[in-house]
Amino acid sequence: MPVDVDAANRALAGLRPFPVAITTIDGGVANGLMSLSAGSASIIPEAPRATISLTKYNKTHDMVLNSGIFVMHMLSAEDGQIEKSLEILRILGGSSGRDGDKMSKLRTKNGVTGAPVLLDAHSYVEARVTASLDVQESTIFVGDVVGAEVFSDAGRLRIGEAWSKLPQEWIEQYDANHVPQLENARTRRFGTTV
Ligand SMILES: Cc1cc2nc3c(=O)[nH]c(=O)nc-3n(C[C@H](O)[C@H](O)[C@H](O)COP(=O)(O)O)c2cc1C
Repeated sequence: MPVDVDAANRALAGLRPFPVAITTIDGGVANGLMSLSAGSASIIPEAPRATISLTKYNKTHDMVLNSGIFVMHMLSAEDGQIEKSLEILRILGGSSGRDGDKMSKLRTKNGVTGAPVLLDAHSYVEARVTASLDVQESTIFVGDVVGAEVFSDAGRLRIGEAWSKLPQEWIEQYDANHVPQLENARTRRFGTTV
């Protein structure tokens, strides 16, 4: 019986509501992207782990694979901070580090691994990759948390609120950037575009 793809996508939609900013450093070069794949990955409270899934098309994917380091930042939904949150989202999610440096546009400090920590984030965990799973178009990374801080007591930004406040031109550019990424993923999964 063929899969009811619409039902599957409705069941799976919105399971991870918090957009996260991922940063890393590889060979002295810093970069990052936005992700909706963030999760907690440990049942042991004194030994936290984090998980993300990065698409192979993205530069950050290769950098995390090579360096084994990532920092996962939550963004703030606080009134006075939301513009900074949307700026982080627009910069890291709106273009590729292949096309120019993104990190110098953001306020950062060095984390314990040397990777950049975003000072305008809500909170972060810094992780060293302990395992990764190659799933054709993407890699799922699991990392041991080696650093963490909470900068704000406010709520964390949800993707629904972010989409409602992002400029229309940015969303159109994002949609256009998504097309080659999707084609690349289909080619990696099926060997051809469908
Ligand atoms: C809300 C949002 C969620 C995203 N989720 C992911 C994700 O889970 N994994 C991923 O690889 N890219 C994701 N992206 C796309 C990357 O952030 C985007 O392609 C970025 O420009 C890649 O930059 P890079 O080539 O410098 O790594 C997301 C983008 C946005 C705006």
